[in-house]
Amino acid sequence: MSWPMIPPAPDTPPCGPPAPVDGGWVVTRHADVVAVLTDPRYVVPVAPGGPPGTLAWLRGTVSRFSAPDRHPGRRALGVAALRDLDPDELRDAAARLTDETLDRLTGADGDREAATAVRGRGADPGESVGPLTGPAAARAEVMGRLARRVPVEVLAARLGLADPAAAVPAVTAVAAAYHPGADPAAVARADRAVAALLAISPPAPAEAAANRIGLLVQAADATAGLIGAAVRHGLAAPAALGTADLLAEVLRLDPPVRATRRVATGALRLAGRAIGPDAPLLLRFDAANRDPAVHPDPDRFRPGHPGGALTFGAGPRGCPGERHALALAAGVVEVLRARCRPAGTPVRYAPHPTLRVPTSLEVMFR
Ligand code: HEM
Repeated sequence: MSWPMIPPAPDTPPCGPPAPVDGGWVVTRHADVVAVLTDPRYVVPVAPGGPPGTLAWLRGTVSRFSAPDRHPGRRALGVAALRDLDPDELRDAAARLTDETLDRLTGADGDREAATAVRGRGADPGESVGPLTGPAAARAEVMGRLARRVPVEVLAARLGLADPAAAVPAVTAVAAAYHPGADPAAVARADRAVAALLAISPPAPAEAAANRIGLLVQAADATAGLIGAAVRHGLAAPAALGTADLLAEVLRLDPPVRATRRVATGALRLAGRAIGPDAPLLLRFDAANRDPAVHPDPDRFRPGHPGGALTFGAGPRGCPGERHALALAAGVVEVLRARCRPAGTPVRYAPHPTLRVPTSLEVMFR
């Protein structure tokens, strides 16, 4: 069968040698991105820390923004918590929660939420609206109800948070201010959300508590973006396309994490270029995932594409939650593929320097 081309998202740079931009470097080739990620002389920009229980404290305590001497021990806390979670069980739990949510929306469980949505579209107000499972049933918005909610709620329950549903808006608020450059109002909301998450977290030493919350925050936007991309590109795909293959190609061609940052610790050389001490580097996964040196016919969606994607990073700071992310996304996407079809409405994205997550994405019930 012939598979479609998926063009790069807007502002994806072409793949080429490291390019100087604004006093730093943009790195786009697969081999150069891997070289930086696996070279300890390039470090993650470190977060300074702040008063206990605040966003600044969280950022200063999680492995993600830790200096090289603190990173391994803190990463081990997150890895240990993840080791207790079985990806198959996560996938099943995500599928169940997705099914239940769709049942509520279609009225298949007797709930009237979907019926109200259809009346609003012009059905006779006096008409009795039963369960909506036929082709004329309502649309659903996937991002808020499922993609942003299900993975975090499932993970929060397994990580022992007392109120997994309440964790979802709190994690979303923290994620919105997690990366540098958030505005003061978002930071204030995130401060309150960190306090709320600590209050529903199991008792633990501060570093363990922070890195448990860190897992949820790292999971939130990226997994939502992956689900959004899979729905956008894969809802109409033939059923013979396995969901694992769909997710793998979507991660490559429309990565929810488009880039990450490093800083050079000395005068270094990368692909023949002199990189000055303290130079910031932006490593573009979106460009490297289309590197023709690794991916023949790079823009074509090809299940089982050799070479894979760099979207989970690489090296000692690569994503420790890859299997969990894929399992959670697969649970949601499998149910959506079985029960929904594309609505054909345009997809918009929240502006962000490194993430690509739809703001809303509609589907129709089959
Ligand atoms: C599609 C979903 C996801 C993507 C694309 C993704 C991608 C990434 C990437 C690229 C990094 C490394 C950043 C860097 O090196 O600068 C990272 C780190 C991390 N991710 Fe993920 N991630 C996803 C989901 C998850 C999930 C579900 C979890 C937890 C269950 C998780 C936990 C983490 C943690 C804790 C780190 C920091 C690791 C460290 O400090 O060494 N991620 N992720």
